[in-house]
Amino acid sequence: MQEKLDAIRSAIGEGIGQTNTRKELFELKMKYLGKTGEISALSKGMRDVPAEERPAMGKLVSDVRAWAEAQFAEREEFLKRKEIEERYQNEKVDVTMPARFAETGTQHPVSLVKKEIIECFEGMGFEIYEGPEIEKDYYNFQALNIPADHPARDMQDTFFITGEYLLRSQTSSGQIRVMENKKPPIKILSPGRVYRSDSDATHSPMFHQMEGLVVDKGITLCDLKGILDEFARRLFTSETKTRLRPSYFPFTEPSVEVDLSCHNCGGKGCRICKGTGWIEILGAGMVNRRVLENCGIDPDEYTGFAFGMGLERIAMIKYGINDMRYLFENDVRLLKQFKD
Ligand code: DAH
Repeated sequence: MQEKLDAIRSAIGEGIGQTNTRKELFELKMKYLGKTGEISALSKGMRDVPAEERPAMGKLVSDVRAWAEAQFAEREEFLKRKEIEERYQNEKVDVTMPARFAETGTQHPVSLVKKEIIECFEGMGFEIYEGPEIEKDYYNFQALNIPADHPARDMQDTFFITGEYLLRSQTSSGQIRVMENKKPPIKILSPGRVYRSDSDATHSPMFHQMEGLVVDKGITLCDLKGILDEFARRLFTSETKTRLRPSYFPFTEPSVEVDLSCHNCGGKGCRICKGTGWIEILGAGMVNRRVLENCGIDPDEYTGFAFGMGLERIAMIKYGINDMRYLFENDVRLLKQFKD
């Protein structure tokens, strides 16, 4: 018996030394001290030991059991500390490491000017209207006093979808949609994408426009000039002035081309304004009587003005970008420079 117990002792001693996790230790413990374990089997075997030897033998077995339990407990404590230590090591955070910052995007220059222009006109009481990009010939041309076969159609090389439908070539189509549905007073601003079959350093097949329309009793060209002056000062500098030059658009009469005094040289003449002191920025005019009539508005009672501008052009002027294609390439090195 003594020999057997010695063998168990040394097996336990050796086995414990080889355990590396608490799970392994538990399994080993069950092997000896579990219900069907080797030491438990010895305790059960006491029944068969002659009565006179039983107390001495029983003591030997319970001594081994007590010793084994103490060994397991000690190892358990050791492994527990080791596991905690390992976890600390693995989960250690180096607080001196530089943080990883998430890359944040910036707004596209065209979005920036669009937002700025909308804020400016909203401040003057304009409502925003957005019309469809696939438009009827009627809204894009005919109702704007550009009949089929009219030479003015050549000003806008249009993508037709069918004979009746096209990709709108100007946001002016929104004027008609608004006037058909709303009685004056009307004061709207209509931003959106427009399409023309054009592509070079200053033209893109898709670009953005912003249309404005005001219709009420007694509206004059002076109202247009006043609103544009305010717009120019807000978008560029408080010194910026506007100049109206006679022009032609089928949907306005009279029509004007609007220039801004050069924000770079203040009007003295520089490379940006090609030495003239002025930069052309938009087309405008008094809404043609025929256009009002087409929308069921009496031109003897109401008058109005309209204007339309290209947002890419304004972004190029404002940010000194000399080729429109930069605005469509989406090169992050360019885009990164524009922070709201
Ligand atoms: N629709 C014109 C264009 O795309 C711009 C324009 C000119 C709009 C005069 C207007 C206007 O409302 O009155 O070239």
